[in-house]
Amino acid sequence: MDKHGPKVHRPPSSYQNHKRTSNDTLSANPVHKSFRPNQGGPTLCPPESSASSRQTLSTMRQLYEKDFPVYKQPVEVGSFSLDSERRFFNDARQIRYYVEPPPRPKFDLRDGYKDRFVKRDDGVKEKLDHILRWILANKSKLQSSVAAASSSPALGVDIVTWRGHLTKLLTTPYETREGWLLAATLFRGTLYLSEVETEASRLDRVNCNERHQEMMYWGYKFEQYLCADDIKGSPNPGGVVNTNEAFCTVVQTKLADHKLLFSGEVDCRDRGPKAPAAPACYVELKTSAEICTPKQRSNFHRFKLLKWWAQSFLPGVPRIVAGFRDPDGLVIGTETIHISKISHLIKNESNCWKPTVCMNFCCEFLSFVRTVVREDNPRVVHLFSWDPHQDVTYSVHRDSTYCFLPPWYVEGMTSSSTSPH
Ligand code: A3P
Ligand code: MG
Repeated sequence: MDKHGPKVHRPPSSYQNHKRTSNDTLSANPVHKSFRPNQGGPTLCPPESSASSRQTLSTMRQLYEKDFPVYKQPVEVGSFSLDSERRFFNDARQIRYYVEPPPRPKFDLRDGYKDRFVKRDDGVKEKLDHILRWILANKSKLQSSVAAASSSPALGVDIVTWRGHLTKLLTTPYETREGWLLAATLFRGTLYLSEVETEASRLDRVNCNERHQEMMYWGYKFEQYLCADDIKGSPNPGGVVNTNEAFCTVVQTKLADHKLLFSGEVDCRDRGPKAPAAPACYVELKTSAEICTPKQRSNFHRFKLLKWWAQSFLPGVPRIVAGFRDPDGLVIGTETIHISKISHLIKNESNCWKPTVCMNFCCEFLSFVRTVVREDNPRVVHLFSWDPHQDVTYSVHRDSTYCFLPPWYVEGMTSSSTSPH
């Protein structure tokens, strides 16, 4: 551990503790005074003068080509599990163990799609509920660490969200197809960020064709070939794939001056006797189409590795095991990709993404949200909206269907005892 506290590494392949210079801020200010109201929407403001100069946020890449921001090594502060019926447990019962694949695998990813697949109902919007359950169940533990630093907000963190929401923010400067909506609520000094499904994404979901549905199954089936339920067990490819089941890590870290607490699903962990502590023992599993041409390799680097890097870098998961599949869904090779080496893998690629742009955009977005959202009230939602080639805008909603902090959470956090949820 160095004099700055938690362990940090060097950018851009890993975590570091550089401070941005004041010049960076002066030379590229992505927050504009221009204001683009949504049409026919709810109240559009900022109501307070302090926020009047910060109404939209640009996502132009050039604005974020600065030094890599401080990103502390993420620390796992807990974990939770969701069972086959999506019930929450404040423990690691759903953890799975990584089992090395054979050198020449022949994993049939289509196997079991018709008869051994239980698909999670993705029409049910769980919002932040599982994380909130975890926070309530661990309230005293979290709050006791705050007592040591009395100037911190009640929970000791500035932002609570899902890792997946942060992944979307990291990739926003490079995203050309899908926009997003993020609801933000300030409650007891902590800002909660919860995604809202866009109409375009809802239509994609309900109109998803059969081939696409089956391909979504393939990623989960690949996990089944490489994961054992028990530390000394073997994978069971004859079993049922149930996508309700999940093991989630909860990590704490800091991006510049934003203290973050977020959770993300983890595929499996290293079970070797020398495995490091979480999150460094975790392994992310991915599938991708077989790479046969230089163009395919270039596209893999420019588009897929961006998403893979962002997802695993955020919680400090150090490696991905990728399965490469042929068009019939047969995995014929695997490769381990170390997150810290991704920046080297992409460095000869022209017109490629940059980790620093991703992290700086996320950081500026969080600053923007914290400047805009001033009213500490669980019944108020600021809805941040982004579409490709546009700036980020927002609207304000009071007592609306966008409210996402449930009464049991608000009451549980306000009372001295913990809630049964
Ligand atoms: P692949 O990553 O191999 O494509 P994750 O990799 O995040 O652990 O997700 C596991 C699998 O869920 C994915 O495996 C993919 O099959 C499916 N999946 C996750 N997000 C998806 C999305 N947005 N669209 C389609 N499938 C998705
Ligand atoms: Mg995965």
